[in-house]
Formats: sequence, structure tokens, C-alpha cells
Amino acid sequence: MGKSSNITWHNSTITKQDRQSLNGHKSCVLWFTGLSGSGKSTLANAVDHSLHLEHCKSYVLDGDNIRHGLNKDLSFKKEDRQENIRRIGEVARLFVDSGQIVTTAFISPFREDRDMVRRMFPENEFIEVFVDCPIDVCEDRDPKGLYKKARNGEIPNFTGISSPYEAPNHPEITIRTDELSIGQSVDKIITYLKAKKIL
Ligand code: PPS
Repeated sequence: MGKSSNITWHNSTITKQDRQSLNGHKSCVLWFTGLSGSGKSTLANAVDHSLHLEHCKSYVLDGDNIRHGLNKDLSFKKEDRQENIRRIGEVARLFVDSGQIVTTAFISPFREDRDMVRRMFPENEFIEVFVDCPIDVCEDRDPKGLYKKARNGEIPNFTGISSPYEAPNHPEITIRTDELSIGQSVDKIITYLKAKKIL
């Protein structure tokens, strides 16, 4: 017998659409993916801030933070990264169901894992944002000194050095963080949300 037998799904009385109407905007996940140091957390937080100022209901889920709590049992080997992303996908789905715009900042290096999350959502509710930045720029920035440690062999399976990063083939939005300012990047994302009538 499976781990999840004898359980029944309950539909809530208040629907996602009811919550979206109350908020005055649609809900979705903005799934930021990119190398360490590419600017995912900075951008996810900047978009969240901009949405907050517009009186939208939003929230950030960030890799480093989630790995301190919910996912602190997971390592950086491939299977654990997959489980990391699966759990975040499920959490993001709850936030979207609650009517919010959730920004997620996870390296999420494997295409199949990101596509697994994409399949959890209706088409217009999953927006993949490729935070595109050349690895030498990320390595120069090295905000946490992790590339240096990885080069010295102190961090195994480090993305871009000893573990792969698979760039998205068809992201909804691409942001070149070595070319655009944070303000320009946020504008590009907010413009997209308006064009798609999410805002
Ligand atoms: S993943 O690949 O999506 O499961 O990673 P994520 O949950 O986003 O966590 C990435 C942050 O963990 C730190 N860190 C590492 N990153 C990559 N590879 C290895 N081996 C590693 N070990 C620790 C690092 O601070 C990442 O944060 P960012 O913000 O991306 O730099």
C-alpha cells in the first residue's frame, strides 16, 4: 500500500478565483532560474518589492532560506536538488492557490525538474524567468565566496563548476543581469505581467 492511501481531496469553499478577485490581480509563480551569483534573489526581491508597493499580494521563496528550514535535510546531489524543486513547486502552488504572486529564487539547474514544476500549473500561471549571466561574471561577483571555494575543491557538486546548469530553451522572460540594471529588469517583468493581464 502506498504512503498516501485512504486520503480524500477536499475542495475549499473559497476558490482561487474568489481570492484573485478580492486581491484585484491574478496569481502566478515567477520562477527565477540561473547560476549562483546571477542575481536571482536580488531580482525576485526587487519584483516582490515593486508588487508590494502596487498593493499586490506577493511573497518570495528563496533557495538559501528554504534550505535553512523546510529543505534542510537535502544536499546538492542531483536527486536531492530534484526533491528540493519538487517541494518548492508544491509550496508555490499553495501560494498561487491562495491568490498571491510568488517569486522563487532557486538555481533549479535541471530542465526536467523545472518542467516538472511547470506541469503542476495551468499554462498562464507558471512564468519561467531565466536570469542569464555569463559564468565568468558570476564568478567575478562571487558575493558569498563560493566560486573560490568550489575552485579549491572545498564544495562538491557546485553548479557551473562541478555540476551542470541547463539553461531554459523557451523561458517566458530572459533577463541579462550583466546588461540591464535592477530597475530595468523589474520593469521588463512588470510589463510582462501587465501584458498577460495578471496585473
Ligand atoms: S538548487 O540547485 O536549486 O537545488 O539550489 P538552491 O536550493 O537554489 O540553493 C542554492 C544556494 O545554495 C548555496 N550552495 C550551492 N549552490 C550550488 N551548488 C552547490 N554545491 C552549493 N552549495 C551551497 C548557494 O548559496 C546557492 O545560492 P545562490 O543564491 O544561488 O548563490
